[in-house]
Parts: sequence; structure tokens; C-alpha cells
Amino acid sequence: MLKNAYILTLISLFFACNTSEKDSSTATISPFDQKVDSVLNLMTLEEKIGQMNQYSGFWDATGPAPKDGSAAKKYEHLKKGWVGSMINVRGVENVKAVQKIAVEETRLGIPLIIGFDVIHGYETISPIPLAESASWDLEAIQKSASNAAQEAAAAGINWTFAPMVDITRDARWGRVMEGAGEDPYLGSKIAIARVQGFQGEDLSSEKTIAACAKHFAGYGFAESGKDYNTVDVNHSTLFNIILPPFKAAEEAGARTFMNSFNELDAIPATGNGFIQRDILKGEWDFQGFVVSDWGSINEMIAHGYAKDSKHAAELAVNAGSDMDMESYAYVEHLSELVKEGKVEEKTIDEAVRRILKVKFELGLFDNPYKYCDEVREKETIGNAQMQEGVLDMAKKSIVLLKNENNLLPLKREGQKIAIIGALANDKTSPLGNWRLAGRDGTAVSFLEGMQNYQGNQITYAKGADVYTEPMTFAKQVQINTSDRSGFNEAIANAKQADVVIMVLGEAGLQSGEGRSRAYLDLPGVQQDLLEAVYAVNKNIVLVLQNGRPLAIQWAHEHIPTILEAWQLGTQSGNAIAQVVYGDYNPSGKLPMSFPKHVGQEPIYYNYKNTGRPHEPSPDEVFWSHYIDESNAPLYPFGYGLSYTSFEYSNLKVEKIAEASLKVNFDLKNVGELKGKEVAQVYIRDLVASITRPVKELKGFELIELNAGETKSIEITLSENELGFYNNEGDFVFEPGDFQIFVGGSSEASLNQRIEL
Ligand code: GLC
Repeated sequence: MLKNAYILTLISLFFACNTSEKDSSTATISPFDQKVDSVLNLMTLEEKIGQMNQYSGFWDATGPAPKDGSAAKKYEHLKKGWVGSMINVRGVENVKAVQKIAVEETRLGIPLIIGFDVIHGYETISPIPLAESASWDLEAIQKSASNAAQEAAAAGINWTFAPMVDITRDARWGRVMEGAGEDPYLGSKIAIARVQGFQGEDLSSEKTIAACAKHFAGYGFAESGKDYNTVDVNHSTLFNIILPPFKAAEEAGARTFMNSFNELDAIPATGNGFIQRDILKGEWDFQGFVVSDWGSINEMIAHGYAKDSKHAAELAVNAGSDMDMESYAYVEHLSELVKEGKVEEKTIDEAVRRILKVKFELGLFDNPYKYCDEVREKETIGNAQMQEGVLDMAKKSIVLLKNENNLLPLKREGQKIAIIGALANDKTSPLGNWRLAGRDGTAVSFLEGMQNYQGNQITYAKGADVYTEPMTFAKQVQINTSDRSGFNEAIANAKQADVVIMVLGEAGLQSGEGRSRAYLDLPGVQQDLLEAVYAVNKNIVLVLQNGRPLAIQWAHEHIPTILEAWQLGTQSGNAIAQVVYGDYNPSGKLPMSFPKHVGQEPIYYNYKNTGRPHEPSPDEVFWSHYIDESNAPLYPFGYGLSYTSFEYSNLKVEKIAEASLKVNFDLKNVGELKGKEVAQVYIRDLVASITRPVKELKGFELIELNAGETKSIEITLSENELGFYNNEGDFVFEPGDFQIFVGGSSEASLNQRIEL
């Protein structure tokens, strides 16, 4: 420790007198710039490159484990100071062990930044991000991220690879579970809430961690929803749909970005200077650093964009990818590339400055072991604050899709309730995917949640498996179950019941990375089970537990009550039971459209009108439609019911200035129960220099009203909401004719036109 104390003293001396000139790439002055330069001036080229090198831990792998990446080699590089960050090393004891090597056994003792996928909770798992987004409750989402940060930080983590802010319109893509759905406005607000939740007011606190906006950019537009597939979008989609949540995350202060596996304009994102240098570090003046996604630097060889690893390293670093996650390309080739003049040392210096600055902001130079407190670890992980937090978030994430005959909320006593479905008794699937530090079997199952309520007589039958998994995070064995042997017991229970609650959907690892699906039906023989039970008892409440929109048209047409319960995390069963019994009145709204059929994908509400939007006359064929399915979704973006109901009236829209208007309307709770409504405001720019969508969400408010209560709501829209990016990437407002809609979903019909 003495040696490093000497070096750190040296740094503070340097800090006092060192006046390095600022290179243009980091124009914004940070309080740490001089300290960063002091450290940089002490470093050899190899030590600088070491900061740009990130290894995965010696046991967890969240990507294709590298063939030659032996623990021994990583260990040797760690001791040489050739590692700047470790991922998948967690727990105070393990983090302390690797940090000790970096800080006490290397020449300069530069601390590691410890990254981990805290995607929806750390060990206490919150609802999958798509579910949290369904709450539209920005305060709750921020609190959820803050709790996750606190729990992860107590385990030694100081950087999360979240929020994933990829907009996506295709439910076939497995990673829809990880994001905020199809809309850039909602996605931007949620990106801000999550960045602020992770990073808090003080990034140097031992209870906050650096955020990472990912995957930059366009990953959610993988063609045909197939993971890692080609992305082919125009600049209007890039600027108006894909980039806004990233810009919002950057403006919220996200300290890191992660680039994506996909190509964009036929250039892999990892080697794409247009998005990383021109837009992110140039126009947006981003001051943090960019980490590649797992192995994405070397994957440019498979893309046919780099001829070998050395060429890939040259392309990536020159395009603005600052840190190499698990390609080993930087640590093996950058030094030679600098000597050959193919990479300038000032490019290396700029990347290292960005990385060191985040380490200073996290307080790691002041105390590299500040995240390593065994007592705090024991007191924090899984504590009551964490449990209450994920329960609150889970309740708010549930969406009521249908409730004919008011089967819900359930009567408290005297009822025979038949609960059917493997997922009802599954204590792992509700944790969803990306639950790396979550422990299998630790979720409260729906059955357990229901058993916390006395008064009704409950029976349970599995009926059928969802999917015979030996699935693990990184491995999948396709055994689609077709076993119907459990049907008879389920049918017998249903015959005796007043109400049947069927819990159907997807296993926890049937969505997420590498889990794209070509079908959006209920997996296995669950649909057959549903129809077999329906044949003997029509009083069915269908509880869906799934990681993506599903095509459940038959259920919609036959089942009286449908609850979308996603994968709600550790407190799943308690949250759903509280909604089923009415202790919480469901308030969620869909962040992504549900299709009638997978053939409609990608399907989204903010579509373009086209030149042939409507059927010119009955039986005409020459207009934009299918001959075998309607254009409409099964359930639209922004849709969700309550145990009460709401009415919108008295819409008044008035111009305040050339690019600003005020929207006023009344919202009334016309039911018998208190409830929450997400009142939504959409615009349509009727004529512009590029085509604009038929609707765009540009404002919303989550409002709680007592039965019979009316509230007058006012939302102001200004240039930020009324403008758009033209194909050159300039943000413009064009005066003209607008239509303003208000309502409880993207099918809002109450509207008024206004000339601006
Ligand atoms: C994965 C994912 C990325 C994750 C990273 C580290 O492949 O694409 O989202 O953060 O590797 O686990």
C-alpha cells in the first residue's frame, strides 16, 4: 500500500502544477481533468491500453466464452496493470480480491471499475424492464433503479450495463423484455428515470453506480426480430425513433454507453464513427466512455468489415469505441498499431482520459475498496427495503387487458378457485431473463401469493409444462413439451370450481438475449390446455406471465378476464394476488402493441399513413392491408383497463406561441372504485417536409382519482414535442396544421385540430 500511497501523492503534486492543454475531443472541463492528466502522464503505452481492456470474471460468462481466454492469462494481465475493468466478478470478497491485485500489485495501482448486468434488480429481482415500463410511473421506475444500484453497490459493483434503451417494434425479438417498448417519448422519459435512479445525485456515493445506455445504436430494429440480425433503417427512423432515448440518457448524465452488435448503414456499430464520434462525442458532447458489447470488436471480422483482430482493433478505436469487452483485441494489438502509426497515441490518450475520469467520479481513486464493505453487503442484500420496492414496482406493472362480467376482483371468501398452469407454481420463471445475480427458486409464485389470502378454497393442477427446460442463461435445449397427461386433473378441478385462474405464458428464459421466436403463441400445449378447460368452465381469469407481447387472439375472443403479469421478479406472486383480490387496482398501460397474429409484426401505433391508408370502397384490394388479417393490433400501445373506468371530456387546445400550445381536458372517474389512469396526449403533424406518423405520444400524466372525482388537466407542448428531425439530422419545427388527441391509449379519439 505504501508504494501506491507514494504514487497517489505524486498525482496530487502533479494536480497542483500540471497544466496539460485540453485536446479538442474533451472540450467540456471536468473538475477531474487535471488529476486525470496527472495519472495519464505517468502511464506507459501498455498501461494506457490496459485501461481500455475489460475481462469477464473467472467463472460467469454472459456471452460466447472466448476459447483462448484462460483465467491464467487474465490473471497475468491483471498483475501487469493491463486490465482496466472486470465484469461478472461480484460479491465483496471476490471484488476485493481482484481490486487488491490492481491496486496493490501493479506499478501505478489504478483501481478497476467493476461492471455487471444489473438489468432489473441485482439479487432482489424487480419486474423485467418491459413490465416496469408498463407502469408509466417514472418515480417508481427511478426508485426501482435506485434500489437495484444500492443492492449491487453493496456487493462491490460500481457500474451497471443498463438502461437498455433500444426502441423495438417486433415482439419476435427476445430482448424486448429488456427495454421500454416501441415509443421514443416514453422510452426517453424512462431512460432518464433509470439513469437518475442508478447514478443518483452523487456518483461518488458508495450507494450509486455508473449507468450505461445501450445498445448504441439500432439493435432493436434487427430484421425479422432475429437477434444480432442486420439493421436497415433510414435516417428519419434513426433520428426520430432510435436516437432520442440515447440522447435523453446522455443528457441525464449517463457516464457510459455500450455500442451494439448490429450494423448500421452497413457499418458495424462498434466501428461506426458516425454514431460514436460525430453524434455521441461530437454533437452531443458526451464526456463518458464507450464500451464495446461482448466480443463485438472481433465480430467485425464475421461482419466482413475487419480482416483480422488487429484490423478490428484499429477500426474500433478510431471509430470511438473506448473499451474492449472480451475481444482481447486492444490488449493484443493496439501497442503495435500505435507503433505502426495506424492509431495515434492521442486517440489512446482520449479514450483513457474518459475511462479514468469515470473512475475519479466514482471515487475509486480516493478509496478503491469503498464498495467492499462486508457488513453493508449483509445488511443490504434482500432486505425489507428491497423486497418492498420490488413488490410496489410489480403491482404497478400489471396491465388489465379484459374484465368482462367483472370476474376480478375476486370475492374474498366462499369461492372454489381452481388454479391451473405450470407457471402458477414456478418460483424461477417470474424472475425473467437477465437475472444473473438472482437465485433460481427465490420468486414468490402465484400459488404462494394466493395462499396468503384465506377464505377461499384453492386447488392446484399443473395441466401442462410450458417448456421442458434444461435451459440456462447461455444454453438452450429445444424440448417443446407435448405432454397432455396432466389435462384430466386440471379439467376435473375446473369442473368443481366457481372461478378458474389459469397462469400461462413463457418460461423465464424464453425471452431475452438469443431468444427470438418465430411464433408468438403460448408455447407448448398451453393453448390446448386453455381450450380444454374452457370447455368445462367459462369463468376463467387468464394470468399471462411472459417476456414479450403474445398473439393471444383466441383467448381475447373467449376468455372473460385477462391480466398481463409479465415476469414481475422476486415478489411476483404477492403482487398478482393483491391485484386479483383488488388490494391494488391495476393501473398499467401497454408499452408495446400486442398483435393478433405474428404475421402482423412489426406492428406499432406510430405508423405512417402511406398513400393508400383506407379501403376506397368495399372489396377494393388496392390499399395498404392484408387479405387475411386486419391492420389493427389485438391490444394497442398505451392500452390498459382498471377496476373502475374513466371518461375524457372538454378538450381545449390553444396556441400559446408559434411553436407552443396548451392542451386542457377533464378526466373523470365514473366507476365505484378509486383508481389510477395514465392520461395520454398524442399529436399528428398533418403536413411536413418529411412524412410524419399518424400519432405520436408527446405527453402523459399518471393521475389517481376517487370514485366520481373529476380533475382538469393541463399539458403544454412546445417545440421539443412538436418538432422532428429532418433527414439531415437537424431538429426542426415547421408551422402548419396539427391534430391533438387525448385519451387512455394510442386509440384516443377525443381530438382537436389547430393551426400553428
Ligand atoms: C451481452 C449483452 C449486453 C451485456 C453484455 C455483458 O452480450 O449484449 O447487453 O451487457 O453482454 O454481459
